[in-house]
Amino acid sequence: MSKNKIKILVTGGKSQLGKTLKTMLPQKDMDFSFTDKKTLDISDRKAVKQFFKKNKFDYCFNFAAYTNVNQAETDQDAVIDVNVGGVSNLIKQAKKYNFTLVHISTDYVFDGKKRKPYREDDKVNPLNFYGVSKLVGEHIIQMQLKKYMIVRTSWLYSKFNKNFVKTILELSKSKRKLKLVNDQTGTPTYAPDLINFLLFLVRTIEDNPKKNYYGIYHFSNEAKATWYEFGQKILSMAGINKKIKPIDSARFESHVKRPAYSVLSKKKIKKLFDYKPRKWDKALKDFFE
Ligand SMILES: NC(=O)c1ccc[n+]([C@@H]2O[C@H](COP(=O)([O-])OP(=O)(O)OC[C@H]3O[C@@H](n4cnc5c(N)ncnc54)[C@H](OP(=O)(O)O)[C@@H]3O)[C@@H](O)[C@H]2O)c1
Repeated sequence: MSKNKIKILVTGGKSQLGKTLKTMLPQKDMDFSFTDKKTLDISDRKAVKQFFKKNKFDYCFNFAAYTNVNQAETDQDAVIDVNVGGVSNLIKQAKKYNFTLVHISTDYVFDGKKRKPYREDDKVNPLNFYGVSKLVGEHIIQMQLKKYMIVRTSWLYSKFNKNFVKTILELSKSKRKLKLVNDQTGTPTYAPDLINFLLFLVRTIEDNPKKNYYGIYHFSNEAKATWYEFGQKILSMAGINKKIKPIDSARFESHVKRPAYSVLSKKKIKKLFDYKPRKWDKALKDFFE
């Protein structure tokens, strides 16, 4: 008899991750249902309740989030509605219907003072409101669920929506000189690489029912860069001959604090699963192909 397909709900189907996942279908052992803000607003408690009453899943990939880091500072109620209230609504249903919640979090839960790759159990101390809201989302999941995976990632980009790579390519057309901060270090993550990791995690859990692989994981591409270095690589790979001026973040017109260092350590996934993300510049090459 053939095995039943794993049923997976995707919230925030129009996110970078949702749209990327759609390009990677079909997956022969998995059956995906996509929802977006219109069809399932995760902050709407009643709508979420109704939805799960009618539809049953083994996993929920929560890609829905308030992600505008700058705007989050002044739009705090809306941020909490989604990044905490929305998560809480999904937790209730996960408990009730016993599905596994796969939730995406961020490097911005850290303050950047460590200056060495951050491990999953390192001290958190977010510097901005977006980071605070994502951290509270993590905490309520950890307090209330057993079957969850929180995957922290960083500097996410893809062919879709607004992201750093697309912004740099766009700005390179219109602005004479680009300025990028050279005192914030992190690691870019190509969305298809993160999706592959999520699919790997689900399969690993399914194949090892006696093991407890639930918990928190870090995933980004490998190695590190500053925004300036990342920008330079984007332009050189795109074949655009344009100068970028490296600047200090203090000179950048932003009222929002960001960690000066937020490289995520991948030791846990390497040790536990022998999973080795590729380097960020190699992944970036794929973006241009
Ligand atoms: N982007 C990054 O650099 C980065 C870094 C680290 C972690 N992350 C995390 O990765 C995840 C995915 O990020 P992304 O960049 O792929 O996101 P994204 O492209 O910014 O999309 C977020 C999506 O969530 C939807 N959404 C907002 N409120 C919602 C609600 N109440 N109900 C349902 N959907 C809602 C948005 O819809 P509308 O557009 O209609 O509002 C949008 O389609 C998020 O959890 C984010 O915090 C991102």
